[in-house]
Amino acid sequence: MEKDLRSHLEELRKTYVYPTKVALYKKPISLVKGKGCRAWDQDGREYLDALGGVVSISVRHNHPKIKKKMMSMLAEDEIQHSTHLFLSLYMEELAEKLAKLAPGFPRNCYLTNSGSEANEMAIMTARVATGEQMIIALRHGYHGSTNATLNLCGQASWRYPHQGGGGVAHAMAPYCYRCPFGAKKGSCQLECAEDVRNVVETTTSGKVAGVIAEPILGVGGFIDPPTEYHSKVLEIIKSFGGCYISDEVQTGVGRTGDSFFAIEQSGVEADVITMAKGLGSGAPIGAVIAHRDLAEKLRGKHHFNTFGGDPYQSMQAGMVLDIIQEEQLMQKM
Ligand SMILES: Cc1ncc(COP(=O)(O)O)c(C=O)c1O
Repeated sequence: MEKDLRSHLEELRKTYVYPTKVALYKKPISLVKGKGCRAWDQDGREYLDALGGVVSISVRHNHPKIKKKMMSMLAEDEIQHSTHLFLSLYMEELAEKLAKLAPGFPRNCYLTNSGSEANEMAIMTARVATGEQMIIALRHGYHGSTNATLNLCGQASWRYPHQGGGGVAHAMAPYCYRCPFGAKKGSCQLECAEDVRNVVETTTSGKVAGVIAEPILGVGGFIDPPTEYHSKVLEIIKSFGGCYISDEVQTGVGRTGDSFFAIEQSGVEADVITMAKGLGSGAPIGAVIAHRDLAEKLRGKHHFNTFGGDPYQSMQAGMVLDIIQEEQLMQKM
């Protein structure tokens, strides 16, 4: 019977779902249950879930505290959706927690439904705040699947022909294992960081909105730059008037152990930080955490997203942050 269910789902997928939604494995499985670090497929086969969605389950599947809270919200008929046109305890408190967790400056948050949407808002914030268009992104970087964020990606397998967009130039990746400059880690001159300068000087007017980079390039193959890379890029981008955007969609929520945001380990106070994935531990939520001075530049206009910061998602993200602290998950990395 369960085997039939798998075949049935596979058939529906093939027939009705976009062909870009590619399932893992030749014989795709259906994960039907998750508890703690384990997941179960349609045949009741148990897995140690090291993938967690795609690195989105940060505090284990169906954490008992989150489950209890969600069930009590349902029992009390707590409002499921109202938009940010109304005040919401969960959204407001989550914004405060995130702003206080991020280093360096007073900050404002914008809650989204995904990492792509967060990065869209981040580059828009940098562009509005600087009055400049150009964003420098990295080859091998990945920042999402919307039009503008695909345009930031430095990977051919994610790019489509005739894809619109502009205002982005790509610098070489800080890829020590296959250094594009043929240099050796430890004895190099950070040619990869200097390439950011070269790209600005040769492909832009000399002024930029900013740079966007993952502290560790995830989708690109877990490319972990030399320690000084990000601080050097910060110095370079500042010299051209740009903002530093740290895409922490994969690396945030304390995943790198020593700090809540991976970029902190490079001593960089990023002007804008984006998050998603592990922030919700299964709930569709993302966040932009921007230097207040930059966020203020958007004042006077509306920016609306219907579900961003909705109560259930925000509650879950808020609890994820608490659980990471209470259970000392970072210290256990
Ligand atoms: C570093 C990074 N940024 C952005 C995204 C896009 O996030 P989402 O899929 O939630 O839109 C991803 C997703 O894999 C990611 O890994």
